[in-house]
Amino acid sequence: MPPSESASKSRSKSLEKKAAKADAKTAASAKPKRTPPFEVRRSKIQGRGVFATRRIREGKVITEYIGEPITHEEADRRYDDSDGRHHTFLFVVNDDVVLDARRRGNDAKYINHSCEPNCESVIDDDRVWIQSIKPIAPETELVYDYRFEWDDSYDPEDVRYYACRCGSKKCRGTILRVPVYLRKTVKEWLAGNDVKRPRKPTKKKAKKATKEKAKKKAKKSVKKSSKKTAEKAAKKSRR
Ligand SMILES: C[S@@+](CC[C@H](N)C(=O)[O-])C[C@H]1O[C@@H](n2cnc3c(N)ncnc32)[C@H](O)[C@@H]1O
Ligand SMILES: [Zn+2]
Repeated sequence: MPPSESASKSRSKSLEKKAAKADAKTAASAKPKRTPPFEVRRSKIQGRGVFATRRIREGKVITEYIGEPITHEEADRRYDDSDGRHHTFLFVVNDDVVLDARRRGNDAKYINHSCEPNCESVIDDDRVWIQSIKPIAPETELVYDYRFEWDDSYDPEDVRYYACRCGSKKCRGTILRVPVYLRKTVKEWLAGNDVKRPRKPTKKKAKKATKEKAKKKAKKSVKKSSKKTAEKAAKKSRR
């Protein structure tokens, strides 16, 4: 084939491809927009919650958490904890901004907390997005870990005030992000035993504890893999 003919053939092929792409684009824009993959219903965790209406793949940005940007001081003024129950529609974006979704929010405000979440919140350029961290089956409640900031002045009463009812086997008993050295103590507090709080470990001690924990974990994984290898060998010899 003369070079000019082959060039014009490949040109017309690429034009065909472009046209097909354009057609697909027009068809896509003509299609009605899909409804969001979730809806608000009553939740076993607390009040209302958000549930998947169809399968959601891992890593999907599901929705934005929309709310009125206010200061921390204004948030404290609006939600003063005086009714003895913790219930807010706040999302802390940074040290200056909190989103209050109560009046100007979207359905994301109904997403409950779980200690075993299937979603996470992602802050990007002061906007908050809710994204799936695993595949989610229809009818499953969408949940993320609120990880409320821990304050060293918190006592047993505060911990119980932030009690978690996510129902997961991994539930830590509170919506608060409990520092590792206090996890056992907080469990006692939640069980109604107001044991004394241990001293906060020095940075050096904390580092040592982390190192030891990592060592133990590594040992365990070696044990596990050698157990697996032994099981495989036993299976083979049985064959
Ligand atoms: C943004 S709202 C979530 C929607 C809430 N269920 C409703 O119907 O308004 C956050 C509040 O829901 C409650 N909540 C969410 N997850 C919870 C959980 N795992 N355990 C206990 N209460 C929870 C707390 O009162 C929290 O302050
Ligand atoms: Zn929990």
